[in-house]
Amino acid sequence: MLAVKKLTKKFSAPSGDVQALSDISLKVESGQFVSIIGKSGSGKSTLLSMLGALDIPTSGSIEVDGVDLAKLSSKQQTSYRAKTIGFVFQQYNLIPNLSALENVMLALEFGGHKSAGRREEAARLLKQVGLDDQQIQRKPARLSGGQQQRVAIARAIANNPALILADEPTGNLDSETGQKIFDLLHKLSRSQNTTIIAVTHDLDIAGKTDKTFTLKDGKITTK
Ligand SMILES: Nc1ncnc2c1ncn2[C@@H]1O[C@H](COP(=O)(O)OP(=O)(O)OP(=O)(O)O)[C@@H](O)[C@H]1O
Ligand SMILES: [Mg+2]
Repeated sequence: MLAVKKLTKKFSAPSGDVQALSDISLKVESGQFVSIIGKSGSGKSTLLSMLGALDIPTSGSIEVDGVDLAKLSSKQQTSYRAKTIGFVFQQYNLIPNLSALENVMLALEFGGHKSAGRREEAARLLKQVGLDDQQIQRKPARLSGGQQQRVAIARAIANNPALILADEPTGNLDSETGQKIFDLLHKLSRSQNTTIIAVTHDLDIAGKTDKTFTLKDGKITTK
């Protein structure tokens, strides 16, 4: 489903260029649950942003189901992000002035969910990640870090994306809740054939995925 070829990303900064990714090539099949590990600064978030068409590679290509992301028009890229991909950001990126419920409802709206039943569907998704009736009415600032993280996960899975890109989806969770979220993602990959690429620092979790890529200084060291 995903083929990355010779992907390179350079950032230009006044203090000099940073080569965040160099010559990355990898393949992920549909329905695979893949983990990415590597030290801070090794390029994990940069790689996810490229895969999610949130940023443009310096060189190289990314094909999703045979379509080169660079060849999509900006309208097609927007639709790719809204419908094909569920993104869990490292910093969650929830909309601060909307409640948890409204954050998920908005994602459903972008994904083309009809307005009837949107509220109920958002509530169902939030309950699936373990939030209660009262918590789902709160704005992000009034939820704990782990609760916000779970809202971000509910939002990412809302439109049944073919591909979930998750930047440390269990990073802020205690091990029991983290395991539950991992199980939920695992179930999705098996029952809906959802492809999942998750950055993690948790080697226990990485060990349970189908495949692990290790990044070091912008290069893949294991396959
Ligand atoms: N917008 C940017 N401009 C300049 N340099 C950047 C930018 N974004 C990332 N970098 C640099 O690129 C490298 C890779 O960053 P990235 O965020 O991908 O690391 P990471 O593996 O996700 O780290 P962490 O585990 O801390 O989240 C780092 O050296 C970082 O400083
Ligand atoms: Mg990161």
